[in-house]
Amino acid sequence: MTPTSSDALIFFGATGDLAHKKIFPALQAMVKRGHLDVPVIGVAKAGWNLEQLRARARDSLETHGGGVDGPAFDKLCSLLRYVDGDYRDPATFDRLRRALGAAERPLHYLAIPPSLFSTVVEQLGRSGCARGGRVVAEKPFGHDLASAQALNRSLLAVFPEQAVFRIDHYLGKEPVQNLLYFRFSNSFFEPIWNRDHVDSVQITMAESFGVEGRGSFYDQTGAVRDVIENHLLQVTACLAMNAPSSGRTETLRDEKARLLAAIKPLDPDSVVRGQFRGYRNEPGVAADSRIETFAAMKLQIDNSRWEGVPFYIRAGKCLPMTCTEVLVVFKPPASSAFGERIARPNYVRFRLGPDVAIALGVRTKTPGKDMVGHEVELLAAQGIRDEMDAYERLLGDAMKGDGTLFAREDAVEAEWRIVGPILSSTTPPHEYQPGTWGPAEADRRMDRSGPWHKPQPTPPRRPP
Ligand code: BG6
Repeated sequence: MTPTSSDALIFFGATGDLAHKKIFPALQAMVKRGHLDVPVIGVAKAGWNLEQLRARARDSLETHGGGVDGPAFDKLCSLLRYVDGDYRDPATFDRLRRALGAAERPLHYLAIPPSLFSTVVEQLGRSGCARGGRVVAEKPFGHDLASAQALNRSLLAVFPEQAVFRIDHYLGKEPVQNLLYFRFSNSFFEPIWNRDHVDSVQITMAESFGVEGRGSFYDQTGAVRDVIENHLLQVTACLAMNAPSSGRTETLRDEKARLLAAIKPLDPDSVVRGQFRGYRNEPGVAADSRIETFAAMKLQIDNSRWEGVPFYIRAGKCLPMTCTEVLVVFKPPASSAFGERIARPNYVRFRLGPDVAIALGVRTKTPGKDMVGHEVELLAAQGIRDEMDAYERLLGDAMKGDGTLFAREDAVEAEWRIVGPILSSTTPPHEYQPGTWGPAEADRRMDRSGPWHKPQPTPPRRPP
């Protein structure tokens, strides 16, 4: 049976940072595409009124959303409602119930800190607002395995599993979906995508900026909880999972969960944590903070496809550039027929953002009498534009009840099990200079495959 679409969209945290950066732009885009035509109710405790929320929406679009689109924005304003109140106060939810009017299948989006999820969900249940509804939980989903399990229990006490949507916006990105498509739609990859042919895998998520006013959130979180436990482990799952037998939601999610369950819990000795110099002066950050703004680690997958192939993962703030890139490095040819020393073996490079590319590194003969060659990079795809932002795609999917691009609880729990051993690290992180690739210690741990791959800025494209 095809699930029916939600008939109202409620977002908690309407005056917050995420709404400003991501949600209003997604809402305007949905309206513009004709995908949103139901009441949109913002909820927050800010002492605001509807006009202030509309002004905030306008500001969000001007600052982050590529500008105000007159007709779409007017339509969005006409759909917008606002409920102000404390999430602990039942009266707030009684007002929400009234604002919902005749809606019978509301979608509740919790764009709020996870510490408030249980309170809000309980109130949704008590007030009748949850009836027939769905809920979207923003990441981070919990703080560790135990809190994720507790959170899950509180969501499932009110909503059935098929009505729970755990957002990891990386799953909504076009290039992340393309990882799966590219792998499983090209016949030459599958036979070599394993320990016999792959030497190592590197995943880098670099950001050239710091914590940008999110110091108090970040200082409770750190790089591992912020982006590795979720985004980068989901990318790893897309890279390493077995082919699903169909594109059906649960079949895909089964394979991803199976792969994540096969990743060994991290060995603290193969993890390097760093903190950029100056982080402790950021507003909201403790003067003696030991939170990491950089982490590099080696993952091992305990299955027959990947046994012995290291997956090196690294993420950090204040690095030399902003870019997420995957490099799958193949083993060199068993012997070089021409006696040439091959410095860099074949590879596949997936640039996942902010620009997008898929490239293959191969060797070709250098013209001349000698049988020597050089490396060339074949671009399979470049500059693909994501015609739909991840948040727009994911909100639309949640409204339709399609959970394919959302994390299932077993996958989330597996992710927490993987990072569990390093969450309570009390060793001070290594300091690094902003604008560098993190602490030198991260290089020393690359025990097998040479130094870290340094993503390069994409050269401007030549006009056709
Ligand atoms: C968020 C993290 O989940 O992802 C941020 O909280 C990070 O710290 C952001 O900057 C990166 O997302 P994107 O889509 O810009 O790569």
